Amino acid sequence: MQALKERQSTRAFGPEQLSPQVLSNLLWAAFGVNRADGRRTAPSAMNRQEVDIYAATAGGLYLFVPKPHSLQAILPDDLRAATGTQDFVRTAALTLVYVADYAKMGNSAPEDKLLYSGAGTGFIAQNVYLFCASEGLSTVVRASVDRAALAKAMRLRPDQHIVLVQSVGYRAR
Ligand SMILES: Cc1cc2nc3c(=O)[nH]c(=O)nc-3n(C[C@H](O)[C@H](O)[C@H](O)COP(=O)(O)O)c2cc1C
Repeated sequence: MQALKERQSTRAFGPEQLSPQVLSNLLWAAFGVNRADGRRTAPSAMNRQEVDIYAATAGGLYLFVPKPHSLQAILPDDLRAATGTQDFVRTAALTLVYVADYAKMGNSAPEDKLLYSGAGTGFIAQNVYLFCASEGLSTVVRASVDRAALAKAMRLRPDQHIVLVQSVGYRAR
């Protein structure tokens, strides 16, 4: 109840980086494995688990690998500035980039792929909102992103579609 009460979007971020433990907990809350059969903290249509979470930090771009719960280094570049047009995106410690992998979505119709991956991303983003509320972190989910430019910078495959991004960090004091 308390986390729901405090859930909100905030757009002012301090310079502190997230500790590895906080980042680990955040990603587990977002879309980690919470059952022995590999199912996750957020639902996905037909359990296809098509949404991948990339973490853009000052130290580079990483892919969250839910099993075994680790980060895979993708690029050494700081891509945070490329994740949006608003000024704060440069200062937030972390941007989560939610990427739908249509290759995992079988023969669903194109409009269903869009709907299911959008809904799936929404569940994940709300998990992040509630985790941030519980930890005193700032966060805001964002659609204002140049998807084509960011996909190019991230070197995504044509089957990978950026759905939304979400800034996370400590509150500005
Ligand atoms: C799909 C979606 C896209 C959004 N895109 C942006 C965005 O690009 N930039 C931004 O600052 N906030 C964005 N927001 C956050 C909303 O502005 C915010 O949720 C709304 O004003 C309500 O405020 P609250 O989250 O504090 O309740 C987005 C929210 C959603 C659900």
